[in-house]
Amino acid sequence: MKTYIVGNWKMNFTVGEASIYLHKLLKTIKPAKNLQVAIVPSTVALQPLSLQIDRKKLKLGAQNCCEKDYGAYTGETSITQLRGLVDYCIIGHSERRYVFNETDKMIREKVAACIRNGVTPILCIGETESERTFGETKDVLKDQLVSGLKDISKEDLDKCIIAYEPVWAISSVKGARPATPDDIASSINIIRDHLKATYGKEIAEKIPVLYGGSVNPNNAGAYLTIPGVNGLLIGGASLIASQFNDIIETAKKVAA
Ligand code: PGA
Repeated sequence: MKTYIVGNWKMNFTVGEASIYLHKLLKTIKPAKNLQVAIVPSTVALQPLSLQIDRKKLKLGAQNCCEKDYGAYTGETSITQLRGLVDYCIIGHSERRYVFNETDKMIREKVAACIRNGVTPILCIGETESERTFGETKDVLKDQLVSGLKDISKEDLDKCIIAYEPVWAISSVKGARPATPDDIASSINIIRDHLKATYGKEIAEKIPVLYGGSVNPNNAGAYLTIPGVNGLLIGGASLIASQFNDIIETAKKVAA
């Protein structure tokens, strides 16, 4: 399976800054076998960056999409509108769930919209600090998986990527602390076991599972070698081209 390195820029960079960043990254990055790199800028930067990007080196993703394809939905952007520009779309990021109050229903409809439009959804799941404290991690992960993938047929499951992002480890969350490899391994096992039990071993093994939360060049290697982790979803460290590139270099060694 490929190793995925995905940089979620969140609401950072103007279009001009995004273009300068991409220019820098394209100079340093070299394509590698078994490694897929993607950047996920704001919607407004996707069209100009799509003209600048070298898709052999890296791909583009969107941070969110509307669950509908067209219509009277002021302010929304559908995946039908984005599909020529992006290969991936992050769905159900904890900031979408908890800051913008996206419901499980919206998230599963967005996952389905991605599949319907030929874009790979990166479905984010993860427990909050209090859910972890109350021993609810397993139930939360299972519920978010069951719900997020509910409208996807068995044949389409291997077109999805799962990202495990414990909310308490996301660098911008107050009091965030990095997860230990043991913390991550135990949640990855829950996810893999659930996928296996629900869809069978063969399909479950085809679904990439990424880790995200306070990833940086110092911990990327340790996180990437956790069994069952197929890549990283990176926020803060992806905003600094040199750090993102260091993580890519680490991933190249792991993927080789
Ligand atoms: P972080 O963000 O790497 O800054 O913790 C990860 C994310 O929110 O996807």
